[in-house]
Amino acid sequence: MRIETDFLVVGSGMAGLWFAYRISNHGRVLVLTKKDDSESNTNYAQGGIAAALGSDDSPQQHLEDTVKAGYGLCDPQAVQVMVGEGPALVRELQKLEIEFSTEGGHLELGIEGGHTRHRVAHVADTTGQAVEWGLINAVRSAPNVALYEHHFVIDLLTDESGRCRGVLSFDNESGKFAEIHARVVMLATGGLCGVYEHTTNPPIATGDGVAMAWRAGAQVADLEFIQFHPTSLFGLKIDGRAFLISEMVRGEGGILRTPDGERFMSRYHPDEEMAPRSVVARAIYNELRTRRLDYVLLDLSSIPSKRILERFPMIADTCKRFGLDITREPVPVVPAAHYSVGGVKTDLWGRTSIPCLYTAGECAHTGVHGANRLASNSLLEALVFADRAAQAASKEEARLPSLDKINPFERQLRSIEDPSLLNSLVSSLKQTMWRFAGIVRSAKEMERGRARLAELSRELEALYPARIFSPGIKQLRNMLIVGDLILRSALARKESRGLHYVEEYPDTLPEAVHTVLSPKD
Ligand code: FAD
Ligand code: SIN
Repeated sequence: MRIETDFLVVGSGMAGLWFAYRISNHGRVLVLTKKDDSESNTNYAQGGIAAALGSDDSPQQHLEDTVKAGYGLCDPQAVQVMVGEGPALVRELQKLEIEFSTEGGHLELGIEGGHTRHRVAHVADTTGQAVEWGLINAVRSAPNVALYEHHFVIDLLTDESGRCRGVLSFDNESGKFAEIHARVVMLATGGLCGVYEHTTNPPIATGDGVAMAWRAGAQVADLEFIQFHPTSLFGLKIDGRAFLISEMVRGEGGILRTPDGERFMSRYHPDEEMAPRSVVARAIYNELRTRRLDYVLLDLSSIPSKRILERFPMIADTCKRFGLDITREPVPVVPAAHYSVGGVKTDLWGRTSIPCLYTAGECAHTGVHGANRLASNSLLEALVFADRAAQAASKEEARLPSLDKINPFERQLRSIEDPSLLNSLVSSLKQTMWRFAGIVRSAKEMERGRARLAELSRELEALYPARIFSPGIKQLRNMLIVGDLILRSALARKESRGLHYVEEYPDTLPEAVHTVLSPKD
């Protein structure tokens, strides 16, 4: 089947939906998403969206905090754009009936580690869900936009001049492949922390966008910087993801203790629980390892019960369902892979190194986060750069690609995979990444990790040769590519900086450089 559209969007999280909403005045828009429309990292965001909205705040102050958190690697121009354009765009979100929490008629602004001002707008502790639904409603009521659920995008189509001309996709419901041609493709496939055994991300976060952009020849940057969230609920997975206990809980006064009651963060950083995320995650890792603990405790006893229930209703309710009353008991927590700082390299307008291919959100690398993302800056980054991408994409050539110029791609042979075989390969991959590309790394071990991934790729190819397709097989191929890119990037960085800590290179080098990989090298 062949379909034509003007703007093709892959992904229905914050970046894809905002882009679709904004570009819908300029032509036909088709959004493809691989599961239900709302299933995305965006949907699970708890803390909120950071922007200089308070009377004591300014974009300059937000810029300084972001740059300080980024360990010398933030791109100052990109940060300037994000903090400068962010506040007006958050006010536009409010117009979409996303009802941010208020206090005395003003937005209630929360605080998280590394922010020197209260600047995180939120909808109690379900900000992502409110944003996701607000955007889906806006997009579904826009006249020019169609949104197809359960459409797995397999690969990008390029032409002989190297331009992106559309995608090859698979409709999970009808079982049919489609070749979709478009003037512009926006890749908004989100994160990749699903390659780790323990992650706060839902199972859609398999790095498909990074893998398909890489196959099509795009540059990727800084993939070694994986942010581990310090506090996910110990010992429990909900639909495959570790349940996040928002950093906002520490912002409200939550204290980290070892099970015997010691408040340990003062030994690691003067800002204690409000230290940068990389520091808190490593401190917990260290306590777990040296004291042979399974978890540490997040003590909420300094926060009145009424405030806990009003500020964190979803967290309280979820914990209660699993037998934990957070108004009375401390929460056992452990770190989990949470956010990918790196991604497909873009300029300040969402353009990648492939003409007519744009990207925004977690699968993009704009340079705003440097070596360590400041909490709640990612929804803002997705919003601001998707908006800019829509402005730039609307000016692309209005002609549709001529079909005969599209490079031939390998026909896919549909197959039903053996779920137990595939699951065991996926588990091995996730364990490998957790063990060899985790919170504390060693160059020697990372080489072993790469060798193990190569072995897994060979096993997969022996079972299912390259042309054999099912969404599960393709997703695993993508995860293997992404895992290897993370390890390659991590091995290339011969220093410790921000989120990347290597035992053999504990120091930070004076010169801050990005790790850029290109398939052509
Ligand atoms: P996503 O929202 O992940 O959307 C990606 C979309 O792409 C999905 O619809 C997915 O189905 C689709 N997709 C992927 N691959 C394919 C394919 N092959 N074919 C078709 N479709 C595909 N950030 C903050 O700023 N503040 C917070 O409070 C916050 N809390 C968080 C809490 C949790 C538990 C998590 C996991 C993340 C949190 N983050 C937070 C990070 C933030 O949510 C994400 O970085 C952001 O939402 C990413 O948006 P996105 O649009 O780039 O991707
Ligand atoms: C959280 O609520 O702790 C997550 C915030 C983020 O990752 O930005």
